[in-house]
Amino acid sequence: SWTTGNVIEEQVAAIREQVGDKRAICGLSGGVDSAVAAALVARAIGDQLTCVYVDHGLMRKGETEQVEKDFVAATGVKLVVVDAEERFLTALKGVSDPEEKRKIIGREFIRVFEQAQAEIIADEGPAVEFLVQGTLYPDVVESGGGTGTANIKSHHNVGGLPEDLEFQLIEPLRKLFKDEVRMVGQELGLPDEIVQRQPFPGPGLGIRIVGAVTKDRLDLLREADAIAREELTAAGLDRDIWQCPVVLLADVRSVGVQGDGRTYGHPIVLRPVSSEDAMTADWSRLPYDVLSKISTRITNEVPDVNRVVLDVTSKPPGTIEWE
Ligand code: XMP
Repeated sequence: SWTTGNVIEEQVAAIREQVGDKRAICGLSGGVDSAVAAALVARAIGDQLTCVYVDHGLMRKGETEQVEKDFVAATGVKLVVVDAEERFLTALKGVSDPEEKRKIIGREFIRVFEQAQAEIIADEGPAVEFLVQGTLYPDVVESGGGTGTANIKSHHNVGGLPEDLEFQLIEPLRKLFKDEVRMVGQELGLPDEIVQRQPFPGPGLGIRIVGAVTKDRLDLLREADAIAREELTAAGLDRDIWQCPVVLLADVRSVGVQGDGRTYGHPIVLRPVSSEDAMTADWSRLPYDVLSKISTRITNEVPDVNRVVLDVTSKPPGTIEWE
């Protein structure tokens, strides 16, 4: 019969068999899938796994710490954190176009990840032959079946490594659906903040700032987002909404009156949605008192924000994210 205990036991045995005395690496995104996949592999092979987390500076408040501290505490995993905030901010400087932002973030991410990977491979120790991925059953079906190996081109040819590194993939979640992955994660002792995390885009807050991305704007959006999340959690609404992007309209200003007088600040958009699979979505009918609390707190606590607006568009026609 299907139990999380059985799944873990089977996978641990299979991974041990597959990896033998070689090493594996795994990229952590802060999301549920990569975290559970890594935790499962760590349970199987311990020190033979190294995880890499690229901090691109576009995460929400507390998320990097969750990976750095809570995830490591729960799994004992060997983790390399690359602080690449400056690099990403420099690459994104002055860029407002959403697709351009995505391209830059994706490109820099791969470069930083491969650099870290190359350093791990160049370490003393057994050969690194495996790459862990948090592929779920729906991903397998969508992409039409088997994968098997990943061909990773090395841009930064550190220490005379071959141009093309071939890894075998370890995909311990290939037979699981999202809710099952969460259960396995829970059984492995991962904290709720990671296991119950709602979807968050890879490009992070970079695509939730309408306008160019700067450190100041990110800090401001991080505060607003943290307030919205805190109040939604306090109201017990986390399970009712699929996700709630919080968006800073950095290129828009409106007049307000705050404290001693007139302000000319930026609006924050709340985009709470309900959905089954993110392909379609409806805007969430959040209780007015919760919206009111979020609005009051954001305008009181976040400098330069003098207005909070609610997105009441379904998908289609609107996408969930603004960019
Ligand atoms: P949209 O905005 O297309 O989003 O309705 C659908 C779902 O995908 C997430 N999303 C992304 N995830 N990289 C990701 O990993 C991206 O570039 C990206 N863009 C959107 C979004 O948060 C929603 O859950």
